[in-house]
Amino acid sequence: MEKIRVGIVGAGLIAQRAHIPSIMKNEGASLVALADSRVGLAESVAKAWHIPKFYGDYHDLISDDALDAIFVLANDPSHYEITKFALESGKHVFVEKPLATNSSDAEELVAEAQKRGLVLSVGYMKRYDDGIRLAKQLMDALGAPVLAESVYLNGNWLGGDPQFPYITSNEKVPLTEYRYPKLNFTDEQKALFAWILGLSHQIDTARFLFGDPKRVVSSALSSNEKKGDLTVNSFTSTLDYGSFLLNLELTSAWKGDFTEYYIACFPSGAVLRTDAPIVLLRNTTARVELRRPDKSEVYEHVGFRWSFEVEVNEFFEAVRQHKDTVSSGREGLLDVQLAEKMVAALS
Ligand SMILES: NC(=O)c1ccc[n+]([C@@H]2O[C@H](COP(=O)([O-])OP(=O)(O)OC[C@H]3O[C@@H](n4cnc5c(N)ncnc54)[C@H](O)[C@@H]3O)[C@@H](O)[C@H]2O)c1
Repeated sequence: MEKIRVGIVGAGLIAQRAHIPSIMKNEGASLVALADSRVGLAESVAKAWHIPKFYGDYHDLISDDALDAIFVLANDPSHYEITKFALESGKHVFVEKPLATNSSDAEELVAEAQKRGLVLSVGYMKRYDDGIRLAKQLMDALGAPVLAESVYLNGNWLGGDPQFPYITSNEKVPLTEYRYPKLNFTDEQKALFAWILGLSHQIDTARFLFGDPKRVVSSALSSNEKKGDLTVNSFTSTLDYGSFLLNLELTSAWKGDFTEYYIACFPSGAVLRTDAPIVLLRNTTARVELRRPDKSEVYEHVGFRWSFEVEVNEFFEAVRQHKDTVSSGREGLLDVQLAEKMVAALS
């Protein structure tokens, strides 16, 4: 079987801590090139990981006919332009979340991938976590909840990962202008939008577990205000599913470990709770607890597979089989659309 030849754009934290090691581990793929506008960083990372080619301009990397798939791991505002160029160049794309920074751009990318028969997958790795997958299975079997809640405390998400050193650089990160939604947002709404979209795992996992709401009501406490050394951003949305409400609560004002959970209460008295692991912790999956009136079940470790690795493996599988992944471009588009609705609901 021919190896899938891969190029990466963006050589920063998530490339080094998650995707490069995961791609390297996959025997059906070969990581042959890396680009970063900070070309010194591209060179150091390429050398450290024995990646044969490096570039400062992503156009040069993507134009290489020898590549089959591109991983877009640059900062959020440049996802659209890099992904668009990669799809137009006939390459399958894995793009870190979010797919794009407004729904028209996201829609365009989904249409481009579909037109060309290319795989477009978005980096919502929680959909690949065996614990989250178990929670979804249990939830589907329990039927519709009467009430649901999710809390996301954006604390320390690195969780300590000494296994892979992280190479940094003093070169300036390029500034790409943020392409805001074509909605009448105030400056405060724009800041809140960029923030919640940057943390859109909560939106995506909520949609994975509960589906798409009919209506949204939101409130925000403040936008980018400093309290001591913490930036205070808090955002809550109530998603109305017709037969139940889901409260999404998100804050950055938190010094503790990263915390993210989803709770659903069912008419029978059953309560299902799943806690996502600290983002970069390996060898662990979401914890799942199902309390019924007569007995409780707790799944501390549904497995030891790392969601980032499973995500990369399933992307290559999708490329081989010409099919969508569970975090397809279409799911990424629906996430951006919901983020827009959540912020629009503030006015
Ligand atoms: N799935 C997750 O849990 C998770 C976690 C962290 C980050 N991310 C996402 O990954 C992406 C990267 O985040 P990061 O933390 O690695 O950021 P980072 O700043 O450490 O790295 C991004 C790199 O992209 C490069 N870059 C930016 N624009 C570029 C361009 N136009 N051409 C070439 N290179 C360019 C920068 O120079 C930088 O080195 C973001 O979209 C972020 O939302 C996802």
